[in-house]
Amino acid sequence: MRHLIEPYDLTKEEIEGIVDLALDIIDNRAKYSEACKGKKLATLFYEPSTRTRLSFTAAMMELGGNVLGFYDAKNSSVSKGETVADTSKVISCFADIIAMRHYEEGAALVAAMNATVPVINAGDGSHAHPTQTLTDLLTIRREIGRFDNLTIGFCGDLRFGRTVHSLIKALSRYDGVKVVLIAPEQLRLPDYMKEEVCDANGVEYKEVTSLEEVIGELDVLYMTRVQKERFLDEDEFDRLKDSFILDTGKMKGAKESMRILHPLPRVNEITVEVDADPRAAYFRQVENGKFVRMALILTLLKWAKDGKGNLPSLEGEIEINKYRCHNRRCISNIENVPSMFRPSKDDSGKMRCVYCESRPEE
Ligand code: NCD
Repeated sequence: MRHLIEPYDLTKEEIEGIVDLALDIIDNRAKYSEACKGKKLATLFYEPSTRTRLSFTAAMMELGGNVLGFYDAKNSSVSKGETVADTSKVISCFADIIAMRHYEEGAALVAAMNATVPVINAGDGSHAHPTQTLTDLLTIRREIGRFDNLTIGFCGDLRFGRTVHSLIKALSRYDGVKVVLIAPEQLRLPDYMKEEVCDANGVEYKEVTSLEEVIGELDVLYMTRVQKERFLDEDEFDRLKDSFILDTGKMKGAKESMRILHPLPRVNEITVEVDADPRAAYFRQVENGKFVRMALILTLLKWAKDGKGNLPSLEGEIEINKYRCHNRRCISNIENVPSMFRPSKDDSGKMRCVYCESRPEE
């Protein structure tokens, strides 16, 4: 069974196939209006969401299918102590496909290991958010027209921002991609991303602390919110929350062809005056999210029907119950699941947790 837990679960060609299908859906809406008739999508949201959940719902409705689920885990059996593994088995009896958002890193992978229907990760802690990535890619395709030879700046919370991690992974497969990481010291991109995604794939990157200094070089500026809910120390959040604010003054230094993306919600990192600038693509990006989720649901249901494939995240050499993950937010430290580690994708010999990609406890 194929699932989508993180961007590397799809090949570059498969991702492009989903983006192309989304473009066809945009041009031929009526053709797809009954494509999922009689099918049910379950949306299991353990963490707040507006856009992602409603865009999955709208996507399934536009395909003629139905939607069930919960968006407040307190009102589900989770509050009685049900595990992600059990919930996934149960929901598989009711739905043809599952979209899950969870605050524990690796939760969607555990769901995929237990469900008998395709599982889509709609965000697992700070780890991954692959459907936002598909949304971002469709937006880049429509706004800029290419993925190769792109200079993309990621600004804000690159440490906890799962959308950033997933988009860098997807872009790491293209030629001539340059990544500019604009973040304060405390919110820098995690090491595993730099070593195993950028270095291992030859992606050129630089780390800077000033947006003004680099804005003129960028084809895409990907702004992000400082992820308040992931901070263990509230004072640290208060010190960092206003690190970068994009305003019309800073936009004067940007190219005419640059586009601003933001997964939303925005707090104050982009002033509302910027919304009127034609380069602000973030509200168009939201609509792309619905189309690309339609394309993804259709693709995964088709693969399930054809009996296609396994979960790439679980392929290869995996050490079971040999190491312990040091990440407190990893599902392997919270629920009763086997610890799983694999050698890193580079040749450093380091091990990485299969659920959250952190290192083992030293
Ligand atoms: C993002 C998320 O949930 O990670 N939102 C979204 O899905 N569009 C970004 C965020 O919450 O900052």
